[in-house]
Amino acid sequence: MLKAVVLIGGPQKGTRFRPLSFEVPKPLFPVAGVPMIQHHIEACAQVPGMQEILLIGFYQPDEPLTRFLEAAQQEFNLPIRYLQEFAPLGTGGGLYHFRDQILAGGPEAFFVLNADVCSDFPLSAMLAAHRRQPHPFLLLGTTANRSQSLNYGCIVENPETHEVLHYVEKPSTFVSDIINCGIYLFSPEALKPLRDVFQRNQQDQQLDGSSGSWPGAGTIRLEQDVFTALSGQGQIYVHLTDGIWSQIKSAGSALYASRLYLNRYQLTHPERLAQLTPGGPCIRGNVFIHPTAKVASSAVLGPNVSIGEGVTIGEGVRLRESIVLHGATLQTELGDGSGQKWP
Ligand code: GTP
Repeated sequence: MLKAVVLIGGPQKGTRFRPLSFEVPKPLFPVAGVPMIQHHIEACAQVPGMQEILLIGFYQPDEPLTRFLEAAQQEFNLPIRYLQEFAPLGTGGGLYHFRDQILAGGPEAFFVLNADVCSDFPLSAMLAAHRRQPHPFLLLGTTANRSQSLNYGCIVENPETHEVLHYVEKPSTFVSDIINCGIYLFSPEALKPLRDVFQRNQQDQQLDGSSGSWPGAGTIRLEQDVFTALSGQGQIYVHLTDGIWSQIKSAGSALYASRLYLNRYQLTHPERLAQLTPGGPCIRGNVFIHPTAKVASSAVLGPNVSIGEGVTIGEGVRLRESIVLHGATLQTELGDGSGQKWP
């Protein structure tokens, strides 16, 4: 039996996504036509033995999130629950705080996924690697060029065993071209080092008299407090992938991720890609059109265009490399050339 946790952060996170995230919480921002974290949930739901998916964050459980959870549970026929942190607990604090819920039912292992990554999520391959040789922490890694690597968590591995020997989060000089994808498989034993960090933080706070102040003892940074601290001790391993991967931090990176996912739909969800139809708009490359959108027949869409719910695209509109958010209306100044505005 397996579980998965998606770390969705909260309103104070994802600042580079503003102002887009003021209207839609970042984890629900549409990427290739579906909410960002739906890609994670689809991947988790496909792993045989997946029992439950937990979203951990510090958003208020508002209407869009609740509606998304209800729809996702129905679609994937799986319990999908939101667990709200009482304060931002970092990338590891929520896992420790909600450990009883994660371990309820005795999962063999649980995936932990950052919400703001785009990937083909090679979860079955990670699980197979874990089953061949179980370790507390298995990190998904990919390669980046030297200058890009400085923006990520960098991993030095033993190339024979794939043990993580060193882990440095966003180093100032080059450390390794293997970077952390923010996609993990943890065994239940992984919670012991988290408990150790929690207890150490608590003792430190009592000693320096700062208990009760923020960040509290409950705040744990998986990357620095666990991966850096425990590398080279036989507990952390890396599984390398050459599949698609990118981070979604800004509007520009959401567009790039949308392009990767739309391209992948050719294999995974061809039904989501718009087709050329007689009397329909001109489609160039990969395009998603929400079934409720109205698109004029003289519009030219693509490549890499995703049209959201209830959108109206007028005559003569040309769009490429775009995500059009729900309810928007796009028209050319000249409309359809008849001088009348397109309805
Ligand atoms: P930045 O470049 O500063 O954004 O760092 P990063 O790329 O390492 O990302 P960060 O560690 O901030 O977040 C990684 C993932 O964890 C994202 O999906 C966040 O939404 C999520 N996350 C970050 N902080 C928290 C937290 O306090 N609680 C929860 N539940 N999730 C968090």
